[in-house]
Amino acid sequence: MDDLAYRSIAAYEQAKDQASAQPEAFWEAIANQFEWHQKWDKTLEYDFHKPEVKWFFGGKLNITENCLDRHLKTQPNQTAIIFEPNDPKETAQHISYEELHSRVCRVANMLKAHGAKKGDRICLYMPMVPELAISVLACARIGAIHSVVFAGFSAAALAARINDADCAMLVTADGGFRGAKVTPLKAIADEALTHCTSIKTSIVLKRTGQEVAWNDIDVWWHEALAEVDDHCPAEIMDSEDPLFILYTSGSTGKPKGMVHTCGGYMVYTAYSFQNVFQYEKGDVYWCTADIGWITGHSYIVYGPLAVGATTVMFEGVPSYPECDRFWEVCAKHKVNQFYTAPTAIRALQKHPVDLVSKHDLSTLKVLGSVGEPINAEAWHWYDNHVGKNNCPIVDTWWQTETGGILISSLAGVTPQKPTYATLPMPGVQAVLLDNEGNELADENEGILAIKYPWPSIARTIWGDHERYKNVYFSAYPGYYFPGDGALRDAKGNYRITGRVDDVVIVSGHNLGTAPIENALNEHPNVVESAVVGFPHDVKGNALYAFVIAKNVVADHEALIAALRALVAQTIGPIAKPDRIQVVSGLPKTRSGKIMRRILRKLAAGEYDQLGDVSTLLNPEVVEEIKRNS
Ligand code: WTA
Repeated sequence: MDDLAYRSIAAYEQAKDQASAQPEAFWEAIANQFEWHQKWDKTLEYDFHKPEVKWFFGGKLNITENCLDRHLKTQPNQTAIIFEPNDPKETAQHISYEELHSRVCRVANMLKAHGAKKGDRICLYMPMVPELAISVLACARIGAIHSVVFAGFSAAALAARINDADCAMLVTADGGFRGAKVTPLKAIADEALTHCTSIKTSIVLKRTGQEVAWNDIDVWWHEALAEVDDHCPAEIMDSEDPLFILYTSGSTGKPKGMVHTCGGYMVYTAYSFQNVFQYEKGDVYWCTADIGWITGHSYIVYGPLAVGATTVMFEGVPSYPECDRFWEVCAKHKVNQFYTAPTAIRALQKHPVDLVSKHDLSTLKVLGSVGEPINAEAWHWYDNHVGKNNCPIVDTWWQTETGGILISSLAGVTPQKPTYATLPMPGVQAVLLDNEGNELADENEGILAIKYPWPSIARTIWGDHERYKNVYFSAYPGYYFPGDGALRDAKGNYRITGRVDDVVIVSGHNLGTAPIENALNEHPNVVESAVVGFPHDVKGNALYAFVIAKNVVADHEALIAALRALVAQTIGPIAKPDRIQVVSGLPKTRSGKIMRRILRKLAAGEYDQLGDVSTLLNPEVVEEIKRNS
């Protein structure tokens, strides 16, 4: 495959021009660099009103041939996956492309031997071990649709996802290691399965060696694997056949099963991976996400493997055994590109910097950020202490729904700007809209929308196309609406300002909670904050701020007065929160997102309407907030 990356600003500009003048020809040229069994009849068919999107329609392929078989001809011995276990004393594994191919084929045969076939949904509830990536690829090999459920989810959340997709098979493990904790995955899965009838076989990987209960449908992974060989021709898939389902939370309690398809997803993840990270042959790339999230799907597994990269998989957490684990692993595996989340940076930034500086990070070339807006303080800490002011930072904006990165700088090629995701990728037509759906010109602030399809846009919500239409295509007809607000500078750089659904109307004024939080965060004693609206009989809504303090607060009244003054000063007196509560933590999802829905209920005193808090990272803070409110 030719190098997909634009290595110079001139090459980038040229691509950008071509992409806007002839978008179909642009994507066709990229898609042509992959291996297809049959070329597509139609590059693009779409209608955002219906909505319907098809890319490379009629084309036939298997994504695993592009991620595996293709590389056997040119680099069979290249390391595909470096596995870094939770416990640093356990030996890391280096899995070559040849070995990965063989292991994927074998697991594919194991799935088939237990009845799995093309189109079946297979749920993967596994720890961050190579067998998870292998299972993902094995499903793709046989055309089964994988639905990975993050191993931190509860039995109820797992059952809901299995039932929604009507999964026929489950692949899990006895348990999983994460920091000092051992998660009893099999026991949780057993509990989930008491609420599911569709699962016919449950394959269990032995990871921790803990005792597990055994049921009729259970099969040990190692025993099943011993029965099969590693010859498994790839199932030939249509470009628009589903590749996977991945759940994301929505504004209602029911998670949305976003459906991604084979052809477009492959093309876009490879293209964006190469360009954003400027990966070069032989580099070691590490994304710290979990494969249970879209970042892991697109930028640990599919994107990197599609271009023949070496991708690190880390089983553990940044604070185990010490708070320098990230930096230790970077030094150990001589990582060149490092991709993590702002929440991790903010947590690590609280520790002494010599935890960073004692490690040799000289191989690092590129740093990445994903998942939420990165605040200026975290950006500069990352730049100064990790990148030594020598590594471009790519702030990548995208979503589960978009499949790949849509707005980001290309490392070292296009200019970066702290706290800005910067420019849309070539081929991505981003716009800003006002509340009525009119496009805003030039330097401006508004609602972010995309007005033309890109190959990896999710095609539907599993089993609920109507909801897909309502959530993403109805608010601003003719556009894909991601639900984020943004501002744009004179050079066209985008800064994501936060979810537009977190606007609170106070006394008739629209107030974004994100800017208020930014103001609160400016206070030297504030680590993080979250602001939500709650009902107020005079103003309609008032604001409730939850703040985490850096140091012990000796005088609460003084801190609260200072914070109110700070907000008044930064935004205006109207934005002053009515209530400010100092808390030890904010209720967060496992991926580190603040659960505003829960904070809104807490702020409103509606304790009986909190819903299921068991899937939170830290359910205990909910109790604490109630106690101290
Ligand atoms: C937010 C994660 C600002 C945004 C890949 C988006 C970001 C949501 C950024 C999707 C970023 C993600 N800057 N905000 N670089 N990246 N977001 O589906 O609100 O878990 O809509 O996908 O995260 O979250 P998701």
